[in-house]
Formats: sequence, C-alpha cells, structure tokens
Amino acid sequence: MDRARIVETEDGSHTVISPQFGEAYHSKYGAIQESRHVFLQAGLHPLLHKKEEIAILEIGFGTGLNALLTWLGTKEQPVNVHYDALEAYPIPKETVENLNYPDILDVEINIWNKLHSFSWGSAILLADNFRLVKHRVLFQKFRSARLYDLIYFDAFAPEAQPELWDIPMMRSMYNCLHFDGVLVTYCAKGYVKRNLKSVGFTVESIPGPPGKREMTRAIKMKMNE
Ligand SMILES: C[S@@+](CC[C@H](N)C(=O)[O-])C[C@H]1O[C@@H](n2cnc3c(N)ncnc32)[C@H](O)[C@@H]1O
Repeated sequence: MDRARIVETEDGSHTVISPQFGEAYHSKYGAIQESRHVFLQAGLHPLLHKKEEIAILEIGFGTGLNALLTWLGTKEQPVNVHYDALEAYPIPKETVENLNYPDILDVEINIWNKLHSFSWGSAILLADNFRLVKHRVLFQKFRSARLYDLIYFDAFAPEAQPELWDIPMMRSMYNCLHFDGVLVTYCAKGYVKRNLKSVGFTVESIPGPPGKREMTRAIKMKMNE
C-alpha cells in the first residue's frame, strides 16, 4: 500500500492523506483552524465553565491533533479531563515525526512523542488534569462502561465510510453519552443530521470553519426537555 502523504493546508499546518481511504485527515483550508473551530470552540469550550470533570471520546485519533489541542486548551483550566481516543489504523511513526504541529503550536517535542509513543490500551497523564487512553480498535467494536460528556466525531467523510454515519453508529454514540452530552462533527449533510435525530439527538447546524458553511452539534437532551 502507498505511504501516508503529508500535505500543507491553507493555515500552514499539515494534514495527512490516507492511502487506504483516499481522504485527507483535515480540511484543506486549515487543519489546526478546523480542529479548533469544530472540536474546541463548538464542543469543548461551552462545557468548560459548566463542569469540573469532562469525559471526552474521540473517534478517531489520527494525527493526535485534536487530543493535543484539547490538552493545550485545558492546561490552565480548573477541570479534569479523561480523554478516550479510538483508532484502528494508526499512522506510521515516520509520518508523525514529520508533522509540524509541535512547531506551530509551540509544544515541547517530548509531549508530542509521549502522545504518540505510549502503548495502546494504557493510560497516561499528559498533565495532572489530563488523562489519555488510546484504544486500538474499530469504532464499531468499541464498548465502554464509561459515559461521556463530549464526543468528537471525526471519522472520514460519509462518501468514504458510509457505515460510520449510519443509524447503528449514531445509536451507539447516543448510548455512550450522559444526558446533556454533546457530539460535534465537521459534517453537515442532511441525512447525517436526520440519522442523528432518528436516534434521539437534538441537532443544530452551526457555522462551520472557513471553507465550510455549516457543521453539526448534537445534544442528548433529557427525555422531558
Ligand atoms: C478524519 S481522520 C481523524 C483525524 C484526527 N481526529 C486528527 O486529529 O488527526 C479519521 C480517522 O479514523 C480512523 N478510522 C477510520 N475508520 C475507522 C474504524 N472503522 N475504526 C477506527 N478508526 C477508524 C482513520 O484511521 C483516521 O485516523
């Protein structure tokens, strides 16, 4: 199989092109910009002032950019984060080593290496308030006893992986959220929003990152709301 290829996006940050799925891991308009907008601003930030403990499920871990930005965004906050990241097809070490995120984000290289080199299935503390577990697993097979406050749903596009945007996947994500839990995704396709609604989510379309008119935020409301 071809090697994962690194390309520069419009904000200067890298993304990776998956040889397996023929898809980019991030928006060509800016990887860091998209990640901050979709996952941090629309997902994490509204929870920061409401909760002292936040459990996050990321689907999928990929380059680790969302995890890194989340760690940076909670470093100085009075909050404890538990972050479970799922990934079935880890990117090769040589690719990780050539990504420019630590430089652009001014992150010490040992943190970046730590994020990528610790073993699958075990937990590390990236900081006293940030516990990370990477799970090498197919999304469809992941089972957790934990309920989450926030899901970063960052699968490849529905055209590349339709089974991950279908009702069974939406139902399992709904089931692993607390009430008031939130799912954010860059995708704003009509049938994806309908699938989310059909399993019980309250769905909103909100402005997307540059290059994308809308993104989706879905909330698991209490039954009587
Ligand atoms: C859009 S990329 C994620 C980008 C990532 N969040 C980041 O910050 O770099 C989608 C990821 O899902 C992974 N993936 C695709 N299908 C999967 C599956 N069925 N189970 C687990 N991981 C999968 C891919 O290998 C890829 O890393």
